[in-house]
Amino acid sequence: MGDVPIGDAEYHKKAVAGLKDSSLFISEAFIDGKWVKKEKLFDVYEPSTGTVLGKVSNCDLADFQAAIKSAELAQADFWENTTASQRGGLLRKWYDLIIANADDIAVILSLENGKTLSEAKGEVLYAASFVAWFSEEAPRAYGDTIPSGTPHTTVLTYKEPVGVCGIITPWNFPAAMITRKIAPAFAAGNAVVIKPPSETPYTCAALAKLAVEAGMDGKLMQVCPTKDRAAATELATNPIVKKISFTGSTGVGKMLAKLAAGTLKRASLELGGNAPFIVFDDADLNLAVEGAMFCKFRCSGQTCVCANRLFVQKGVAEAFTAKLVEKVKALKNGHGLDPETTQGPLVNKSGVDKTREHVEDAVSKGAKIEFGGKAPDTPGFFFEPTVLSGVTPEMMVANDETFGPLAPIFSFETEAEVVKMANDTEFGLAGYFFSKDIGRALRVARKLQCGMLGVNTGKISAAEAPFGGVKESGYGREGSMYGLAEYQNIKSVTIGNLNL
Ligand code: SIN
Repeated sequence: MGDVPIGDAEYHKKAVAGLKDSSLFISEAFIDGKWVKKEKLFDVYEPSTGTVLGKVSNCDLADFQAAIKSAELAQADFWENTTASQRGGLLRKWYDLIIANADDIAVILSLENGKTLSEAKGEVLYAASFVAWFSEEAPRAYGDTIPSGTPHTTVLTYKEPVGVCGIITPWNFPAAMITRKIAPAFAAGNAVVIKPPSETPYTCAALAKLAVEAGMDGKLMQVCPTKDRAAATELATNPIVKKISFTGSTGVGKMLAKLAAGTLKRASLELGGNAPFIVFDDADLNLAVEGAMFCKFRCSGQTCVCANRLFVQKGVAEAFTAKLVEKVKALKNGHGLDPETTQGPLVNKSGVDKTREHVEDAVSKGAKIEFGGKAPDTPGFFFEPTVLSGVTPEMMVANDETFGPLAPIFSFETEAEVVKMANDTEFGLAGYFFSKDIGRALRVARKLQCGMLGVNTGKISAAEAPFGGVKESGYGREGSMYGLAEYQNIKSVTIGNLNL
């Protein structure tokens, strides 16, 4: 394999063989504490080449049911026999192992997702930060003592685990979306059954292996990769599962919420976005361009919090566009593991097709291509980083999340007008704006309808910051001091007649 060049269809074999610990590249499901090879397998593709990276066990309904049952028993034991600080200690050991294996996990993640190695490494550290955060939150699961209205009585609250949690995660963050959900679940004393994304199941398996090495009972973290949607919906319908947490599209989120309602499961849903990115004419333009580059082109435009609509005030529109185009021209599409690459591919052909459709629709309605605009004729699922100007609200991109490397620039005249345009969407996940005026900053921050805002920055994601949306972008908060409560029930205990 020594001379296989990057980009060759066989290159991934060399990359996997070159891992420090190639046993982290796992194709099996993890059920009842055992790695299970199924007869039925599904293909996982390498987006950088468009070829098959590997074949992974395809779980069926019986596998989900067995995993749920096994998780139920493990959860009861875990809650009964661990203290909060022991659970925190286990998470800390897991964190240490993720950090020790970060380079290997980053290679696996880059192979299956396509993002550049440096982005993949950044994601592994981001993923680990949730494990560290919740290792520290675990012992802080305080209850309350509440003054009672009845004499000789006191009211206490206990925070208890919800039970077995069904976890369904997306391919755009194969590591971080797993840890952002399951670290708080474990901290609170739950077990989880995970359906990892069928595009990127390998990273999840590596994380599960490390969790077990850290001392976690393997039955607490069941991993059921599958392409069988009907089997996976068991997580939303099985009465043993008490909570589902899902990150993905609004359509699937609504379907899961309906299914979960059948047994009144709790749900956290982090769904689609259509983030406005507003540049006022008093903004620091260099900062605004830096913010746009990060929150538009991170993961090749495939994040739920990516800027989807760039609104630039008339007086600075030309200057902002020129500066943005200059930076975008310097991006280099390529294989995720090539050190020269700054933009990886999209995850699959549908991602390329959707980006192309948005560009063609906008151009047919009068937008101008400032840069890019095409899918290059190369292997893999690439689209050129693209900037459009003259974009208007009747174009598809105004209402639909592109999930690709397309920066569409709208222009506006007044603050009131742009707030109205920004809020004119059923989504409300993230938003961004740039202004040096503190009065405007506070005013606009109040008026924008979204769960997360970046003011003079494009970076809003961190373990300590609550992550989640409003409107049809879902409900529930992940990370932060609020993330643990999503996996806990509050029990109130009223103790009467204390003066017996
Ligand atoms: C997402 O795209 O769902 C997650 C993005 C992030 O955590 O920053």
